[in-house]
Amino acid sequence: MKNSIIVGVGHYVPETVVKNSDLEDVMDTSNEWIIERTGIEERRYGKKHVETSTTMGAKAAEMAIHDAGISKEDIDFIIFATLSPDYYFPGNGVLLQRELGITNTEIGALDIRNQCSGFVYGLSIADQFVKTGMYKNVLLVGGEMHSMGLDFSTRGRNVTVIFGDGAGAVIVQPTDDKNRGILTTHLHSNGTYAEKLAFISPGAHGGYYQKYTDEELDYGFPKDVLGEVFVTQKMVDEGMLYPHMEGQFVFKNAVVKFPEVIMEAFKKSGESIENLKLLIPHQANLRISQFVQKRLGLKDEQIWNNIQKYGNTTAASIPIALSEAIQAGVVKKGDLVCLAAFGSGFTWASALIRW
Ligand code: COA
Repeated sequence: MKNSIIVGVGHYVPETVVKNSDLEDVMDTSNEWIIERTGIEERRYGKKHVETSTTMGAKAAEMAIHDAGISKEDIDFIIFATLSPDYYFPGNGVLLQRELGITNTEIGALDIRNQCSGFVYGLSIADQFVKTGMYKNVLLVGGEMHSMGLDFSTRGRNVTVIFGDGAGAVIVQPTDDKNRGILTTHLHSNGTYAEKLAFISPGAHGGYYQKYTDEELDYGFPKDVLGEVFVTQKMVDEGMLYPHMEGQFVFKNAVVKFPEVIMEAFKKSGESIENLKLLIPHQANLRISQFVQKRLGLKDEQIWNNIQKYGNTTAASIPIALSEAIQAGVVKKGDLVCLAAFGSGFTWASALIRW
């Protein structure tokens, strides 16, 4: 079996910069609070009517394709990870295929719904497909347009200040070099805490999960009628159409699972963390990254953080950071790179790569 290797990277962030002071204008928050709790100074928002998670993904993909030295027609499989898809269905995978203009090859397109760990899950899938010889040029994209689904009133401030828009992409190919490439990937989940960080409505749940929410939320679904509605008036009136997060609970789990899944990758591969060139953690919160850095005893130059500029871009955060680190010349051929993520689900994952 061949190894699989990342041969091209790319990223795109929208032009519009939204500073913490801009959020102060629309909700009861402060620059000091946001920086102290999250490290975030600004984030980018896509332009309505012009940009979506798919179009940003396409821009990142074009850069990755160019970087890999291949043409769009060489791509034989698409994987798109996002929690902010353009449509409920079909998914961003096929929309990206159309946006890139490669529908003539009729390749497969897969959508991933693993939120913050979506990119690492996608990398693991690409790795398996490439290693078995099924595909030779997998395009993996993580893209988010969070700004279309946030509550900009004070009620939503604990979530809204954290998230930003953007996209990142990689091309995964086979290699004959047994010493380089994706060494190992590790995927985990625990659905027990599904509602702790979730975008529940609109959804086809029909009120079934009421029992799992602390306040036994009534979503306003009519009972005993033929057929059901997807969005109820109650959801609109009571602002239920936004993400919900129990921040401290998420934080406490993240700081345990990040180090655990990173060390799992080192143990499995037989590599030593002392030889780690760069850890790229999902950019959830700068305080989480700092906690993980301390726990693992890493130096400042061994961890990449850019949440200060972009906020949390969920499935896009790791490929954006990876692309920036490559551009900055921090990661070179032969370097040991670790990717790790934790988020909604809960799902968490890691990948260890010999670049
Ligand atoms: N601006 C000002 N005050 C805010 C605020 C904001 N944006 N958001 C919440 N607050 C207030 C709360 O209302 C609360 O006020 P109270 O004490 O009067 O009730 C206070 O700040 C503390 O809220 P809390 O939620 O306990 O804050 P926290 O210290 O846990 O920080 C998070 C909140 C979200 C920054 C933090 O929990 C976190 O980062 N969690 C992990 C989130 C994450 O990584 N999510 C992505 C997963 S991949």
